[in-house]
Amino acid sequence: MRQWRTRPSAAAVYDFAADPTQPKPELYRELAAAADALTAGERDGIANMANVAALIWQFLPELNWAGFYRAIGEELVLGPFCGKPACIRIPFGQGVCGAAAASGKSQLVADVFAFPGHIACDGASRSELVVPVVREGAVVAVIDLDAPREARFDGDDLAGIEALAQLLAPRI
Ligand code: SME
Repeated sequence: MRQWRTRPSAAAVYDFAADPTQPKPELYRELAAAADALTAGERDGIANMANVAALIWQFLPELNWAGFYRAIGEELVLGPFCGKPACIRIPFGQGVCGAAAASGKSQLVADVFAFPGHIACDGASRSELVVPVVREGAVVAVIDLDAPREARFDGDDLAGIEALAQLLAPRI
């Protein structure tokens, strides 16, 4: 799946091709491999989050928002993402993202309208998956995926994004 060419100028071309029809575990293995290749040699966390947001957007079908919120003090602050402009600051404990940050536990929400306190940044969102990124016992960020249909995310998505969060924890 992965092609990685280098130009004579040494500027790399990152040409990752994903097949969204393959089984989800395989798709997530490829996503993790691409994320690993892109972030392994880079120490700037914002750059790494930006590239991984772009990879998620490219690899996973049926998303209307994908990106990061960073834990700064007692709130989440918008980080790199793909999708429409979104809420900038979310206090811990508020919304789906704030629930993930406050509890340190992933939130798989099949119907956002049934989640008390859900924050509607993009009116198209119907289901959501938020996974905390934990480093040395502390939540440093969350990965937030939104989808325009109910029950878009299942256990495979949860496992895949949790594995991605673990890979990224020391790199963002
Ligand atoms: N829906 C989120 C807010 C962030 S946006 O989805 C990008 C929440 O309830 O925390």
